[in-house]
Amino acid sequence: MEACNGHKSEDSHQIKEFKLERFFAKYELTSPYALCSSDCEPLSMSEALDLADEECKQMWDQLGLAYTDPQGALPLRQEICKLYKTVSTEDVIVAAPQELISMAFHAMLRPGDHVVSMFPGYQSLYEIARHIGCDVSFWEPEVQKDGGFVFEVQQLSKLVTSKTRAVVVNFPHNPTGALASKADWEQIVQLCKQSKAYLFSDEMYRLLERDSESRLPAAVDAYERGVSLSGMSKAFGMPGIRIGWLALKDAKLMRSLQQLHDYSTICSSAPSEVLALIGLRAAKTLVQRNLDIIEANVAHFRAFCERHSDVMAFAAPTAGSIAFARLLTGEPIEAFCVRLVEEAGVLLLPATVYDHQPSIENASFRVGLGRRNMPECLRVLEGFLKKDRQRS
Ligand SMILES: Cc1ncc(COP(=O)(O)O)c(C=O)c1O
Repeated sequence: MEACNGHKSEDSHQIKEFKLERFFAKYELTSPYALCSSDCEPLSMSEALDLADEECKQMWDQLGLAYTDPQGALPLRQEICKLYKTVSTEDVIVAAPQELISMAFHAMLRPGDHVVSMFPGYQSLYEIARHIGCDVSFWEPEVQKDGGFVFEVQQLSKLVTSKTRAVVVNFPHNPTGALASKADWEQIVQLCKQSKAYLFSDEMYRLLERDSESRLPAAVDAYERGVSLSGMSKAFGMPGIRIGWLALKDAKLMRSLQQLHDYSTICSSAPSEVLALIGLRAAKTLVQRNLDIIEANVAHFRAFCERHSDVMAFAAPTAGSIAFARLLTGEPIEAFCVRLVEEAGVLLLPATVYDHQPSIENASFRVGLGRRNMPECLRVLEGFLKKDRQRS
């Protein structure tokens, strides 16, 4: 609301609360059975160090706790480049993934710019644009009969105009697990080219395609205004080191990012950069470990939903470490999730944290597929459902 002196009221300067992160802040670390985590099984410190090659072992042993290169340690950026086809070290900047979303949006966008972002989605991917004062249009999915979600490019083409400054996509998608086809991806890139919009592509769950043939090209390789976000949190199981990166070719945008970084964390933590280097050099092993966990958990959760087909339904995601399942009992989804975590310590994430009305009406909830303790969590959930049946 505008205050009568023409200045914005104090409240309108505040960014809206990040509902998912607030829900996690309340429950994540105190719930013994986290069943909605988006990261893959976090590595222990000793597991990580066991993966180190000789060079990384030496780096680790001789590491000084000094400031590091604000762009990201050079050996780390060299390793990151190997994930792309056309990227060199000066096209990469390293920081925490969430910090990079904020930096990128502040570097790309001005008040009044038009932005298209997927919805539902990870809130910072549209909320920061709204906070800057952009006009944000939502690209929403069609819900399939089996509960799966499809983002139709036809719908996107109605939203992107010559005034669009940025198209924000996230494939594999949080929370639905949707992945665009390669043909759709080409059309998305084409739409951005036609409107000269940035393509900001959150690729945090890339490499976790259940069929590697379906992996999409990175935005930075596909388009000169493509910006790829990735990091160690999901596919590599190292969320605690807080290392991510942006890869982009636009030198002016890179200069703005460097400037903004000087006002946030300046540079990353030296130990985290070495751990990221170790993780990236062991990428094949780590990603396969996580895909194996996901595949086993898809089977566990599918069997669970079959045993409780009056309570829950689930369409396995094409890619990524999460799925958007449904509660079928008619109970509002947030009430169910709160009851479940408070009575049984099992944490599921209700669609209400995504603010997306059709998913709330569908009683959708996020389930995490990347953690090893899923069978144990499902046993406790099963006990809770049994008690529920006895009560009714
Ligand atoms: C789609 C997406 N982008 C970005 C992030 C932020 O990653 P991080 O928590 O490592 O900063 C997340 C985290 O859940 C996410 O799901």
